[in-house]
Amino acid sequence: MIRFLMLAFVTVVCAPTFFPLVVLADDGAAQKAVLVTGASSGIGLKITEKLASNGFHVYAGARKAADLERLDAMENVSSIRLDVTVQEEIDAAVEFVKDQGRGLFGVVNNAGVGSISSLATGPESDMDFIFGVNVYGPYRINKAFLPFLDESDGRTTTIGSVSGFIARKAGIYSMSKFAVEAYTDSLALEIDGNGVHVSIVEPGTFKSGFAVSQAARALAAADKGDIELTAEERTRYEGVRVRNATRKEPDEVADAVLDLMTAENPKRRYMVTPNERQAQAAITAAMRRLVQLNHDQPYNYDREGLIAVLDELLAEISNDTGD
Ligand SMILES: NC(=O)c1ccc[n+]([C@@H]2O[C@H](COP(=O)([O-])OP(=O)(O)OC[C@H]3O[C@@H](n4cnc5c(N)ncnc54)[C@H](OP(=O)(O)O)[C@@H]3O)[C@@H](O)[C@H]2O)c1
Repeated sequence: MIRFLMLAFVTVVCAPTFFPLVVLADDGAAQKAVLVTGASSGIGLKITEKLASNGFHVYAGARKAADLERLDAMENVSSIRLDVTVQEEIDAAVEFVKDQGRGLFGVVNNAGVGSISSLATGPESDMDFIFGVNVYGPYRINKAFLPFLDESDGRTTTIGSVSGFIARKAGIYSMSKFAVEAYTDSLALEIDGNGVHVSIVEPGTFKSGFAVSQAARALAAADKGDIELTAEERTRYEGVRVRNATRKEPDEVADAVLDLMTAENPKRRYMVTPNERQAQAAITAAMRRLVQLNHDQPYNYDREGLIAVLDELLAEISNDTGD
């Protein structure tokens, strides 16, 4: 009897998580669900469109009522009110996904914001703000949704940046993107072997709402006297709309996310830049740091040693990807 009651409890109470209803796509295959944070604009919206038009059901996180309504009207998309800095909203999103009965195959930690202030003189609140979204965001979201991914042998990715390799001025943003590089590798080590794949996408500069909202915040903060802008910075921020309009749409970033959600052997890192110059700048910056690390210390590699390590790593990655 006790065994029967326990079985009944597990079946009724835990059913949505452990025994998800199978929702079928148009072609009859089970439809996998993916959560995308920051789906209201730019890269997050492109990823939502790409996944929804390629057989996935997308839980699209957004914050404003008009965005939620717009996303909900899209085919294969259910919007979720989700500010990644608000734990109650994350908890409610977990319940929502559970109630939908599809389980969850993927998480795309896309929500992100840019920094506006100097490391030397800016307010600490900018650090809290940027890290709250860009670093604590993926950390909180993954923690909340990993039980679903464990269940589905699913995949989680974070939209990092080439700024995770190239440190720039007003560097809180770079700091946050460097942080998610380490976060990705450490999380992968931690959960390695349990079937969940962890990756990171590193876009270069693409058209989105990012630079425009960053500029609006910077100009408003300067007008309030919270930060100081040089004349050159002010001109740069004021011209951002014009520059943004000339940038490439982030379709290739969305293609990378589709690949990592569908490939048999997804990569750990997907760098996607609009041109050769940005890709090579990121690779050179990473190599410069490596050369500085090696230089002038008692246990350094000589040139041949460095080349041998490089050859080993190249062999390792082509074995991983089956090249
Ligand atoms: N565009 C680029 O060139 C570029 C390059 C490298 C990396 N990235 C990265 O790509 C990601 C997406 O940025 P984007 O370029 O597409 O910029 P975007 O158009 O400004 O989109 C940012 C998204 O993040 C959301 N967001 C901001 N704070 C949030 C919070 N607290 N909780 C939940 N969502 C929040 C925004 O929602 P609201 O609309 O409600 O504000 C928006 O949906 C970011 O992680 C960014 O660092 C972008």
